[in-house]
Amino acid sequence: MKTFCLLFLIALIFYTNVIHTEQTEPEIAMKAFVTMKGIEKIQSIINPILIQEIQNVQIPPVTVKKDGLTLELYNMVITKLQFDQETVTLTAPDEITIAIKQLSTHCDMDWHYTFGLLKDSGTADEEVTEVDITMTLKYFANNSHIALVAESAQCSIGKLDITLHGGASWLYNIIIDILKGPIKDLIASSLSSEFVTEINTLAPSLLDSIPIKIDIDQYTSLHFEMLGQELTSEYIAAFNNAEFYDIANPVECPLPHHDLPSTPKSEDYMAEVYLDEFAINSAFYAYNEEGRIDIIITNGEIPPYIPFQLNTSEFKDYIPNLYEKYPDLLMTIEITPNVLPSISITEANEIDATLILNLNFSVVESDNTTIPVFTFVCDIDADVDAYMDGETICGNLTLNTFTLVDTWTSIGPIDMNLFMPTLDMMVNAFVVPFLNGYLKTGFPIPTIDGVSFENSEVSYGDGYILISTDVDYTPPEYNFY
Ligand SMILES: *[C@@H]1O[C@H](CO)[C@@H](O)[C@H](O)[C@H]1NC(C)=O
Ligand SMILES: *[C@@H]1O[C@H](CO)[C@@H](O)[C@H](O)[C@H]1NC(C)=O
Ligand SMILES: *[C@@H]1O[C@H](CO)[C@@H](O)[C@H](O)[C@H]1NC(C)=O
Ligand SMILES: *[C@@H]1O[C@H](CO)[C@@H](O)[C@H](O)[C@H]1NC(C)=O
Ligand SMILES: *[C@@H]1O[C@H](CO)[C@@H](O)[C@H](O)[C@H]1NC(C)=O
Repeated sequence: MKTFCLLFLIALIFYTNVIHTEQTEPEIAMKAFVTMKGIEKIQSIINPILIQEIQNVQIPPVTVKKDGLTLELYNMVITKLQFDQETVTLTAPDEITIAIKQLSTHCDMDWHYTFGLLKDSGTADEEVTEVDITMTLKYFANNSHIALVAESAQCSIGKLDITLHGGASWLYNIIIDILKGPIKDLIASSLSSEFVTEINTLAPSLLDSIPIKIDIDQYTSLHFEMLGQELTSEYIAAFNNAEFYDIANPVECPLPHHDLPSTPKSEDYMAEVYLDEFAINSAFYAYNEEGRIDIIITNGEIPPYIPFQLNTSEFKDYIPNLYEKYPDLLMTIEITPNVLPSISITEANEIDATLILNLNFSVVESDNTTIPVFTFVCDIDADVDAYMDGETICGNLTLNTFTLVDTWTSIGPIDMNLFMPTLDMMVNAFVVPFLNGYLKTGFPIPTIDGVSFENSEVSYGDGYILISTDVDYTPPEYNFY
């Protein structure tokens, strides 16, 4: 009895351990890198938006008092802003520094002074040139999303030219003298805070449009939670799970992950994405859990261009014993995976698909009951070609050969040499299009709304696909303009 208790205890501990080691947390299955070339592209996208937003910004009014003169400046607006020298520097672990040099801006404003009993007012405009602005941004993950936050900006102003209109001209020089100091400070702090505010408005509106979950259909969703990030002097990277889930029962797919390379392969593209074969295999896992890899083909589903009937009379010559036992009856084929379909990727052989399928043939009696007559277990050797369709990576499966690994029959022996061509035709007519239907839906690479891939290339490594691409951007209609 004691021994039994001990064994029970051991079993319990072991069982508890098993539970604990079961995978419950998502792991990294996708690494996306933006290279310096990509960062230059981002600048060219962001800068016009920034300039647009900062122009027409209202600067708060200011009052200056000096030597009995009270001067008020109001309705100050930045009407023009331009710069063409900008450098972006990345500093590990998380800092992006943007230095803008030789920025110039034009401001309009109204002014009004009192000097004892004297009062006067007018307008002014000013050219501010030789402005340098340095901003520091932090890169991090925020609730599974990519986030960028501008923390501070420093601004220094080189040159300020003010032109006053209206008012008594004898005061102009005094006024301009008084104005220069405070206006410089005001413009510097307004520009700094405007850049920070605009970046902090723009960044989430762009980055939050990168989906972290895509519903493929009502049963399956694809998740891209950000699980990690990296920033070095060469690139910005985001690491995501990239995993399909059964919506009704979202459990972690137990298939293995691979170590993805830790740096981009080439600096020649704006972005590179490594995708673990796990990501694609998790789709087969989710679909199989949903029972969606099972297909039943009836005679009615055979497309008219296929000169073939699922009717025992069709097999009269190849499988005479079938026809003898069940003459002129319709048939069904149920196709189910014998093992979970999967792909494996190697640098040398590219994508190999493992497909071992049960093909269960039944005859349909006049009362619609089905009677299993024979089953073939086929090991299908297929190649998959990956290609980019826009921002989606798709596959195209082609059948090489298939071998029978098992057969079962209730109607006596079947001469497989006679039947093989028919089987081959059926696999090509049903199984290949069925799988290609899924592969064509493809795997969407999450991007900022409005981003499109250009010059994309697909290549292969051990356990992963690499997508190398340039990008273009067309702001969606609802955007900032
Ligand atoms: C972080 O995420 C929260 C919730 O999703 C959001 O409200 C907030 O704006 C995000 N912050 C940044 C800096 O993106
Ligand atoms: C099966 O085919 C035979 C010969 O073409 C035909 O006579 C028979 O009606 C078919 N059976 C069914 C159920 O359609
Ligand atoms: C298909 O046939 C095999 C062999 O007879 C059997 O083990 C399996 O359960 C069948 N599958 C279905 C879905 O009927
Ligand atoms: C058999 O199934 C067909 C198609 O679903 C249906 O039209 C027919 O009425 C059924 N026959 C019997 C006897 O249940
Ligand atoms: C898939 O491959 C087949 C055979 O190589 C080819 O004929 C077909 O055009 C390909 N389809 C796509 C979408 O690339």
